[in-house]
Amino acid sequence: MTASANPTPVSAPRSTGWSSLSVALHWTIVVLIIVQFIDHEWMVDMWRATRRGTEIDAATETWGWVHIIAGTLVLVAALVRLWDRFAHGRPPYPAEEPTWASWLARITHGLIYAILILMPIAGLVAWFLVIGEAGEVHELMWTPLLILIGLHVVGALAQQFWFKTNVLKRIFVPGTV
Ligand code: HEM
Ligand code: HEM
Repeated sequence: MTASANPTPVSAPRSTGWSSLSVALHWTIVVLIIVQFIDHEWMVDMWRATRRGTEIDAATETWGWVHIIAGTLVLVAALVRLWDRFAHGRPPYPAEEPTWASWLARITHGLIYAILILMPIAGLVAWFLVIGEAGEVHELMWTPLLILIGLHVVGALAQQFWFKTNVLKRIFVPGTV
């Protein structure tokens, strides 16, 4: 096979912006994390009651299951988004920003992906295999995730308004370069 038969290696950045799938999944994950922010106390109550064999009310059970389902959806959404990214590439980091800022963004994104995958897995292991230590690991990842999200949002706003890039438009409008 000649080089020209496959001119675009899979690891090359997209020449277009984020795909519709990637944009939709980004904002789906944001909504699901907000849901987890709201419902996590019920999950903790359901977890404690289940381990102690005590009764829980209907609201705790409902919100506990919302936590399990929303958390599992985060795992699926993050994996699909990563697949899309590796299969089709991502838009290049903006040329207007300094290299250190692009590297900070890369590291932050990598750590966010790691937690979005490891945290639900630890939760699922805790719940379905009833392993308390997995629950503790799950809990430990929450504060780092919140800090990383804070850094990510500040970073995105800095990229947009300080370094005068168009990153905000491209995470809202698929195909924006
Ligand atoms: C739960 C909250 C959030 C999470 C977990 C999250 C996570 C991510 C991840 C993992 C990426 C992918 C980067 C890549 O694949 O290379 C990304 C991209 C991006 N996010 Fe978020 N994000 C969140 C909230 C926000 C918010 C509120 C904003 C707006 C201020 C935002 C703006 C962006 C932008 C602009 C990009 C694209 C950067 C680029 O094109 O270089 N994110 N986000
Ligand atoms: C990224 C997705 C998820 C996020 C952000 C998240 C977030 C949280 C938070 C903030 C807590 C409370 C920690 C505390 O203050 O004690 C919690 C507890 C818990 N979550 Fe999740 N969760 C996610 C996915 C899941 C999934 C898929 C399950 C599967 C069953 C799950 C099961 C649990 C359990 C069992 C607890 C109680 C752990 C303990 O108290 O030791 N979570 N989760």
